[in-house]
Amino acid sequence: MARLLGWRWKLGACAFLSLFCPSVFSFVLPRSENDRPIIGIVAQESISKIFKRFGSSYIAASYVKFLESAGARVVPIRLNRSDEEYEKIFHSINGILYPGGAVSLETSEFSRVAKIFYNKALEAYDSGDYFPVWGTCMGHELLTFLTSGENLLTWTNTNGFSLPLNFTQGAKGSRMFKHFPDDVLQALTSEPVTSHFHFWSLSVQNFTENKKLSSFYKILTTNVHNDIEFISTMEAYKYPVYGVQWHPEKSPFEWKISPGIPHSQSAIKVAFFTADFFVSEARKSSHRFFSKEDETNALIYNFNPVFTGKNHSFEQAYFFD
Ligand SMILES: *[C@@H]1O[C@H](CO)[C@@H](O)[C@H](O)[C@H]1NC(C)=O
Ligand SMILES: *[C@@H]1O[C@H](CO)[C@@H](O)[C@H](O)[C@H]1NC(C)=O
Ligand SMILES: *[C@@H]1O[C@H](CO)[C@@H](O)[C@H](O)[C@H]1NC(C)=O
Ligand SMILES: *[C@@H]1O[C@H](CO)[C@@H](O)[C@H](O)[C@H]1NC(C)=O
Repeated sequence: MARLLGWRWKLGACAFLSLFCPSVFSFVLPRSENDRPIIGIVAQESISKIFKRFGSSYIAASYVKFLESAGARVVPIRLNRSDEEYEKIFHSINGILYPGGAVSLETSEFSRVAKIFYNKALEAYDSGDYFPVWGTCMGHELLTFLTSGENLLTWTNTNGFSLPLNFTQGAKGSRMFKHFPDDVLQALTSEPVTSHFHFWSLSVQNFTENKKLSSFYKILTTNVHNDIEFISTMEAYKYPVYGVQWHPEKSPFEWKISPGIPHSQSAIKVAFFTADFFVSEARKSSHRFFSKEDETNALIYNFNPVFTGKNHSFEQAYFFD
């Protein structure tokens, strides 16, 4: 309740002051940065036999910890809910993350739900609201599909590799990397600190030939694998939409023994500053739950993760339905 009253008071004060002194309004506004950001993570259909036993949909816990590590709380976005419910959640949370995984970009319920939030995020931005969107691995691939309306991916078989990133000219001034410390940027360019588990990638060639994609996103990093140069990091020019083909959350939080998951100190720092960036974007959103009770009931703390690491590549996962 304190939070709600705090917000109302601030808004009231802004409105009141702005009547008398418009310049005060622009001074007061940036101070209302949201320091209690809540981010949604979209669940996806359970595919494996082991996961189906626990629930029809899941969220790997590493994505939850990734956001929590930078000061956000998480709300699971469950599948098969009504449009009204998604609308209500959209106005309650401060950003959304599409995780990696293995469901169809075209026909899954995961993709249908992600599209609802993607469209709302763009509409919101166009009307002066702020709602950041993040895609990791399959989530990144999904963004390319949502933006272009086509599946333009190509098989690169980049499954289980740690790689440095090749930065483009545009990366230095990017929103994403602008505030990374120099030593972390240095590690990203010279050490194998990013985790790749993707059979498919968006090639620079297909990106460049597609007007919808090339006018929407700026390429920040690329990688070359099996002779194909693909996009490993991108951010939208205009909208707060971000995609990484690599997995920042795996380094600190997934322990399957694989050359694709670097655990070096540099890799952990990369994960933290990546999370810190996206959470800082969510801090710009002033969406909030209608009541403290609604907020409490929506948080992922209402669910307990299951230790799945003995039988699955994810150490822990949350299951639903
Ligand atoms: C969603 O609803 C469809 C149709 O009722 C059902 O087949 C499917 O199993 C549900 N998926 C999940 C993840 O609940
Ligand atoms: C471009 O996209 C098509 C799918 O539309 C895919 O078949 C092809 O392999 C892609 N080519 C490259 C070079 O990425
Ligand atoms: C960076 O780009 C160069 C030149 O295209 C390529 O040879 C190299 O493999 C790329 N590095 C990575 C880590 O993908
Ligand atoms: C998980 O793996 C353990 C051994 O690693 C095995 O004993 C157990 O039966 C497995 N559980 C399932 C559900 O497959």
